[in-house]
Amino acid sequence: MVARRNSANAKCRLTMRCKRAMCYIQNVSSMKIKRIAVKSAAGPYFVVSGSGVIRRAAREVAALGRFSTVHVISSPKVWRAVGKLVHRGLRLSKNSSVHLFDDAESAKSLRSVEQIARSLSRARADRMSLVVAVGGGVIGDVAGFAASAYLRGVKLVHVPTTLVAQVDSSIGGKTGVNLPEGKNLIGAFYPPQLVLTDPQLLRTLSDREFRGGLAEVIKHAVIADAPMFAMLEKDMEKILRRDRQALGFLIPRNVQIKARIVSRDERESGFREVLNFGHTLAHALESVTKYRRYQHGEAVAWGMMAAAFLGHELGLTPADDVSRIVALIRRLGSLPAWPRVPVTTLLDAMRSDKKVRSGVLRFVLLPRIGEARSYDTVPLHVVERVLHFTPRLIAASENHLGRRHG
Ligand SMILES: NC(=O)c1ccc[n+]([C@@H]2O[C@H](COP(=O)([O-])OP(=O)(O)OC[C@H]3O[C@@H](n4cnc5c(N)ncnc54)[C@H](O)[C@@H]3O)[C@@H](O)[C@H]2O)c1
Ligand SMILES: [Zn+2]
Repeated sequence: MVARRNSANAKCRLTMRCKRAMCYIQNVSSMKIKRIAVKSAAGPYFVVSGSGVIRRAAREVAALGRFSTVHVISSPKVWRAVGKLVHRGLRLSKNSSVHLFDDAESAKSLRSVEQIARSLSRARADRMSLVVAVGGGVIGDVAGFAASAYLRGVKLVHVPTTLVAQVDSSIGGKTGVNLPEGKNLIGAFYPPQLVLTDPQLLRTLSDREFRGGLAEVIKHAVIADAPMFAMLEKDMEKILRRDRQALGFLIPRNVQIKARIVSRDERESGFREVLNFGHTLAHALESVTKYRRYQHGEAVAWGMMAAAFLGHELGLTPADDVSRIVALIRRLGSLPAWPRVPVTTLLDAMRSDKKVRSGVLRFVLLPRIGEARSYDTVPLHVVERVLHFTPRLIAASENHLGRRHG
């Protein structure tokens, strides 16, 4: 198996190496396909990224070794959108089966894990079987968790079909489901064997989901990649049109950022926390609105603007950087309104987030665009002030812009 993978890699032309030699990008020159390595305790795996990757899925999977059976886990909606392409790409045979489950956030539950496990069992999946998760973050998290637990673990491949899943959730091995008491409270670190990331699979994605994914892209730029931030400022219109070339650059670049961070801190013991930029408030906004008002990226967009203001109030983030961050986020379009709840309700929701350690609120803040650090010494009255003025400031400038353009 190793020999086959090496021979496939030998065809690639090495074009770039990360400083820490933890992850690297290789170009398969003919098709502009990139292979990005991710380090994990269970061994490294590759994210293969590029337009047309799905057409070579069967070859990539074969390079992992022999499997008794292949089981695709997806949702009716995703399978309607990309099933044909994926079916053809994986060259699914009679030894394989497709299992479709609801992928609503409300179905991200232990009940779905049980349904998947029972369906796998009925299809005679054994220890040598492969699970292929085809979908957005919900399918990836639930199917990944089911794969980690079924027969104490069967091998897993991710085929992410949303922008969030392509640049974020399919990388890093976090899997899990929600409990009525909170999001992602049950789960496991279960890295895949392979991730196949094809921007062609995003064509059918709704505009709202796509823009939500871009909020996470902006997050990556803000915390780790100032040149990519400048590129987003320059090319946002093209990206919003899903220009092939722009996405062909952007997706692997984001995979590489996430890969580099999780390769350094797989289990979120410190460094990986920077990925939570904007998320302390985002989770609070989502929870006080019962997960009905915001697409996750929209809540992250609000959260990032507030975190930029907070950094500035604390004398950390330069005003110029704050204004660039806010301006870029606002090019994603208007956001569902800030909830009409007292600031204390938001603070309470922030405190009940599972990432809060011994009751201390932690915030990822920015010394500058491209650099982030986690802080647990932020004075509460400053947070309160920022939560108070953020929605007013953004709404006021929206009205101002509306008057100027309208
Ligand atoms: N594991 C991680 O590290 C991690 C990271 C970020 C987010 N997440 C999780 O991911 C979930 C959110 O994932 P998401 O943003 O991908 O949303 P999602 O999985 O909820 O998908 C959003 C919608 O898009 C549809 N869809 C998916 N692919 C499509 C396609 N190609 N064409 C048309 N429709 C398509 C889905 O059916 C769904 O209705 C959350 O549960 C979050 O907790 C996990
Ligand atoms: Zn997020």
